[in-house]
Amino acid sequence: MPPFLPLLSRLALRNPISTLKLATSAFSTSAKAMAQEYKIKGLSSLDLKSGEKREVEIEGIENGKVLLAKVGDKTHATSANCTHYGAPLKLGVLTPDGRLTCAWHGACFNIASGDVEDAPALDPIAKFEVIEKSGGVYVKGEESVIKANRRQPNTQCLAQGQEKVVVVGGGSGAMGAVQALREQGFKGSVTIISSEPNLPIDRTKLSKALIADKSKIELRPQDWYKISSIETISDEVSSIDFQSKIVYSASGSSHSYTKLILATGGTPKALPLPGFKELSNIFLLRTIPDVQAILNAVGEQKGKKIVVVGSSFIGMEVGNALAANNDVSIIGMESAPLERVMGAEVGKIFQDLISKNGVKFHMSASVDSAAPSSSDKKAVGSVKLKNGTSLPADLVILGIGVAPATMFLKDNPAVKLQDDGSLQTDESFAVKGFSDVYAIGDIATYPLTMAQVVLVPSRASSTGMLPKMQDEA
Ligand SMILES: Cc1cc2nc3c(=O)[nH]c(=O)nc-3n(C[C@H](O)[C@H](O)[C@H](O)COP(=O)(O)OP(=O)(O)OC[C@H]3O[C@@H](n4cnc5c(N)ncnc54)[C@H](O)[C@@H]3O)c2cc1C
Ligand code: FES
Repeated sequence: MPPFLPLLSRLALRNPISTLKLATSAFSTSAKAMAQEYKIKGLSSLDLKSGEKREVEIEGIENGKVLLAKVGDKTHATSANCTHYGAPLKLGVLTPDGRLTCAWHGACFNIASGDVEDAPALDPIAKFEVIEKSGGVYVKGEESVIKANRRQPNTQCLAQGQEKVVVVGGGSGAMGAVQALREQGFKGSVTIISSEPNLPIDRTKLSKALIADKSKIELRPQDWYKISSIETISDEVSSIDFQSKIVYSASGSSHSYTKLILATGGTPKALPLPGFKELSNIFLLRTIPDVQAILNAVGEQKGKKIVVVGSSFIGMEVGNALAANNDVSIIGMESAPLERVMGAEVGKIFQDLISKNGVKFHMSASVDSAAPSSSDKKAVGSVKLKNGTSLPADLVILGIGVAPATMFLKDNPAVKLQDDGSLQTDESFAVKGFSDVYAIGDIATYPLTMAQVVLVPSRASSTGMLPKMQDEA
């Protein structure tokens, strides 16, 4: 398995959103809205070269802008800004097959339809007709849509019929799946079963801004699920009978399905070293309760000694987020942070950036053990490195990777997990060897395309380490 796979799995390979297009294609319908023509300022003809993008202003609409992008011999007009945090899409990367990748956090849009093809954006960009006439260029659309810089997916539905989709997991994969099902006209019942105590959240904000207020990071409010006829159940799925098409949960309830989407994401890895299992104030970071536990340990007063184990994205992001008022050390095994995904040279640039915020780095270092505090034998007091260094620690945060959350399938005789615990899918995200079972997001191993490799650098700018990104998070 190539070393960049864990990153790619988060970015694209296992990306849920594109799944949905494929998995829901069997149910799709579409809708059209009223529109009028608006002239583009200062453009007398369509003169873009293939592959070129240009942001243009719209006459008669205050601050009205659209993006023109030419793919092959066709010029497309879309919203000018990303629907995630509003990055100008003119800064993005446009591939010859019409995929536009946002420069800030790597969301991908289909330039021909505006559809989201990759997280973290949830809403599609709007798409406008381009008209060249009488020495001018016009776009056809609604003023409100041009101003909104997005297309609101229409997901309203009153569920009916015999079809029952059950989604196991309530992360961004699940969210993308259910939204796409409704947007594309699926009318059957849809149920999300999630072991998290909240609705699907924008997980990416947890490490960048340590937000524990669910109302600030839930991707959609409760009402949205209601009008979309999507049932949400907070429970842990314990097993699945694929023959009878029934999902069983830890609370003892069962749910039958006609189609099943598995989207249980990743489980953060713990360190199997002395002290790490026994001592308190050692944290993982995947959920709102994890963030809350970290914030409680940091306390109002802050000024804590914090050791972060792991110098990839999560370690770097959380270290940086806590550096302002605490004494943060990051431990990494490679010679530079992010080295395995971006190379040592680029990693060092990020190291320098974060060091300026006060973070200390211990690179090319291996952890030996965690030792108790002298004042509380049950809590961590220091982290020892194999080179003999002892780093004082009031709390420790582990950011050493995730494993696919497929424990509930481990002993299921019908399932063959990959060596890394993931589920192998085909290009349509159907799980190999099953009918009506799909796997998306971090638990799926999906055939890689070159277009997806383009996404790797985008995640670098999503680390929250750059001032602009911090402002956004
Ligand atoms: C702190 C942090 C920051 C990140 N930042 C970025 C970033 O900037 N850019 C980026 O591209 N990626 C980022 N990622 C990765 C990204 O969040 C994941 O790739 C994405 O969330 C995967 O979506 P998913 O739906 O597969 O899984 P998840 O979002 O993890 O959702 C899985 C869901 O399944 C539930 N579940 C698990 N097991 C069960 C069970 N047995 N029964 C019921 N429910 C279950 C979980 O509770 C959870 O609700 C970040 C991840 C973390 C943790
Ligand atoms: S602003 Fe575009 S992906 Fe975040």
